[in-house]
Amino acid sequence: MDADKQPLRIGLVGFGCVGQGFYDILQQQPNLGLRVTRIAVKNPTKPRTLPAERFSYHADELLADPELDLLVEVIDDPAEAFRLVSTALRQGRRVVTANKAMLARHLPELVQLQATFGGTLLYEAAVCGSIPVIRTLDAYFSHEPLRSVSGIFNGSSNYVLTRMSEEGSDYAPALAEAQALGFAETDPALDMGAFDPRSKAVILAAHAYGVFLNTEEVLNLGIEGIGAADIAYAAALGQKIKVVAALERLTNGRVTALVTPQLVGPESPLYAVEREFNGVVLEAEYAGTQFLQGRGAGGHPTGSAVLADVLAVQRGTHYGYAKQDTAPEAQLLEELEVEVYLRHADEGVLREVLTWLELPADAIQHDGYGPYATGVVALQQLFAWRKELRQNGVFVARQGAVRLTAPVVQEAASAWA
Ligand SMILES: NC(=O)c1ccc[n+]([C@@H]2O[C@H](COP(=O)([O-])OP(=O)(O)OC[C@H]3O[C@@H](n4cnc5c(N)ncnc54)[C@H](OP(=O)(O)O)[C@@H]3O)[C@@H](O)[C@H]2O)c1
Repeated sequence: MDADKQPLRIGLVGFGCVGQGFYDILQQQPNLGLRVTRIAVKNPTKPRTLPAERFSYHADELLADPELDLLVEVIDDPAEAFRLVSTALRQGRRVVTANKAMLARHLPELVQLQATFGGTLLYEAAVCGSIPVIRTLDAYFSHEPLRSVSGIFNGSSNYVLTRMSEEGSDYAPALAEAQALGFAETDPALDMGAFDPRSKAVILAAHAYGVFLNTEEVLNLGIEGIGAADIAYAAALGQKIKVVAALERLTNGRVTALVTPQLVGPESPLYAVEREFNGVVLEAEYAGTQFLQGRGAGGHPTGSAVLADVLAVQRGTHYGYAKQDTAPEAQLLEELEVEVYLRHADEGVLREVLTWLELPADAIQHDGYGPYATGVVALQQLFAWRKELRQNGVFVARQGAVRLTAPVVQEAASAWA
């Protein structure tokens, strides 16, 4: 740093896992020219690793402080995070956030606020922790068409799947172990239900395709219903079950998105992504296939992404969203189908599920673990029955690419005839 150059003054909102990780990295790198001058937290009685006078208990005080050059927002409350970040952007401020749930819900508005008021918002830490996937898509692949962006975006569920696979164990003990080791939240619903990777897929869609998706309209199926039988079924085929978030360009040029358990073979780089790691596969039109792997969570890995964003903001970097003007339409459910594998220990329940999904009764087969079924299902049916599937503990995994249903293909074919 130049001797006469003032350090960048950072206001840090949130001093939990990510906030402390970021702060700790800065302490170990004192020559970066960055200084956390104010920290806001919520709970005044919580014991802290820093003296009490370092903390404010009102984040609004940081918003009102003209001395701060940049805000880092790393709190665990999406609604409050949106209030803070949008207020800061209305002031034309520079902001770094890690809050994927907030971003997935409000991205169009946040992009608009930057355009209107001249502020900057970067959020690399929000998707796959330490993996620089947003900047890669936004800057490096800003003008290259992408066939697909898919990956393992949730370390907690991947940890559970890995342990089940290694131990041949059931879901409950693997989840309990993940929770005991701090790889899964006490309330695992967001991670195991694939809500968290769905938020990340929605964020990536804006950078990979210029498409702003409504999170609620993206199909997400989780692993709450998984058992040792499903892991064994995949293993017998030489495959593993992974929760894969996928953005795919369809043959009609539109883009689809979904997050589901999927059978993955050794030909995919995702097959070897284990435990709490995340991985992203990019299929680019001209560059071909690329694969990024790294730690998707944790104080230091996520703090490292926050630091990279802070330094990027300092250099004047902002996201380009270059594909926004030429964005294809999204086609999330209509006229799409996918091959699935379904299992429930109770054959009666499985039979009912087949009627929901409009699969024939003879789709049921048996192996050493009991009944299961396979078949091609409309995405609309999976979406319509997703809550019942979850509530009834039915495990569903996809076994292939999402494709346009036959009538549409025929229509397109006859149009060319
Ligand atoms: N943990 C990860 O590995 C990871 C990875 C990627 C992204 N993220 C995202 O990063 C964000 C932070 O996650 P985290 O794991 O660090 O959460 P955390 O450990 O639960 O910490 C949350 C922090 O936010 C503070 N806070 C909550 N509400 C506040 C408010 N209204 N004003 C000021 N401070 C407030 C809390 O204050 P108190 O200390 O007073 O309770 C706490 O310091 C979340 O959006 C999360 O989704 C986390």
